[in-house]
Amino acid sequence: MPVVYDKLFNLMESQKITSVNLMRKANISCNIISRLHRNDYVSLETIESICRVFNCHADDILDFNFHHQEKIQTADEKISERAEIQNRRYLGNKFKLLDFIKKVVEENCSEVETVADIFSGTGAVASAFAEKNIITNDLLYSNYLCNVAWFGSENVRLNFLSSLIEEYNQHKNFEENYMTENFSDTYFSKIDCSKIGFIREDIEKKFLSGIVTERERAILIASLIYAMDKIANTCGHYDAWRRGIIFEKHLNLPVLNVPAKNKNNRCFNENANGLIKHIKADLIYIDPPYNSRQYSDTYHLLENVARWEKPPVYGVALKPDRKNLKSDYCTLKAVDAFEDLIKNCKAKYILISYNNMAQKGNERSNARISDEDIFRILNAKGKVEVFSKKYKAFTTGKSNIRGNEERLFLCEARN
Ligand SMILES: C[S@@+](CC[C@H](N)C(=O)[O-])C[C@H]1O[C@@H](n2cnc3c(N)ncnc32)[C@H](O)[C@@H]1O
Repeated sequence: MPVVYDKLFNLMESQKITSVNLMRKANISCNIISRLHRNDYVSLETIESICRVFNCHADDILDFNFHHQEKIQTADEKISERAEIQNRRYLGNKFKLLDFIKKVVEENCSEVETVADIFSGTGAVASAFAEKNIITNDLLYSNYLCNVAWFGSENVRLNFLSSLIEEYNQHKNFEENYMTENFSDTYFSKIDCSKIGFIREDIEKKFLSGIVTERERAILIASLIYAMDKIANTCGHYDAWRRGIIFEKHLNLPVLNVPAKNKNNRCFNENANGLIKHIKADLIYIDPPYNSRQYSDTYHLLENVARWEKPPVYGVALKPDRKNLKSDYCTLKAVDAFEDLIKNCKAKYILISYNNMAQKGNERSNARISDEDIFRILNAKGKVEVFSKKYKAFTTGKSNIRGNEERLFLCEARN
């Protein structure tokens, strides 16, 4: 379409009027805002309402540019940059194993209506059961928010969210904030730190003033997490950042391809051992960390931005205090925690992912629970079968272990 609203957006910027303000003042919907961002036609009534807001003529807010097609396409591409659930780098994520997991469930489990993914991480496994009722849970708030974004049952306004994301992506003003003060030119450039800090603060303000709802807030924060993950100056984890690097990629929030509405799913942010006492499901999927690497150490920066409590950070890796986020599954308490969890499972089927690292790696990567303990604990609960698949794990790059196998332990509970 040859219509171009660049003049309108320049006018809005010069008068510090955001899309949300314009929606209110001109009494137009978020759908119309998206159309304007896409340089689509809108009604003359809409043009009149906008002109009233700025006390201007139509040609002060739009142009017809018959040679603009190329530019429109570029703008469109930018708008439609989208992300799916798997577009995150996450240690131990099971996206590549979904076919295997689904096959094991389809061939061995019957009448599964509710699936609980209680160490859900990215939520990849829950996404394979999207047609069921889903329960997700993770100790990290950043994962909880991503899970709410993908699976939460609250209805959301997708066009409105797209226009907010578009606005965030166009934000150019530099400001000093928590992110620039603590992380400039480490994991992110100073400019991107400023943008991350601004966006995160703005999402919170919009939530507290009722402009966005709880799930909409989660979707915006999840989009920020996906964008940060894409450009972070790391090899996927935040134990260190690479020095002397030129920051070539810049922050660009994707529009997450989330459904506007889900089934009656439930998302939790609890210790799985506590939660298990209060939930029931036909199938409970258990994918705990299996070695001593704490996820709260690896993803402290995403967690910090998700929580936005702005704590002091320490050491070369700039980590905040994470005492409350330590998982027993990474410590010598792992066997007891696992035994307690299985005892309290109320499900017909319990499906467990547990890697066979045993004693193959270094001290940090060895599995915390031995096969003997897994069998002893599961046999006490029901009938056990094991399925396995050779698998190249996503590691932090330090380990190069051959013969790595991903195993699924399926336990059909007695009674
Ligand atoms: C192996 S990852 C799960 C990966 C996930 N299946 C996926 O595909 O993305 C283990 C997850 O368990 C979470 N976790 C660790 N201890 C936990 C606990 N006690 N309760 C709940 N979640 C925990 C971690 O934050 C991490 O996200």
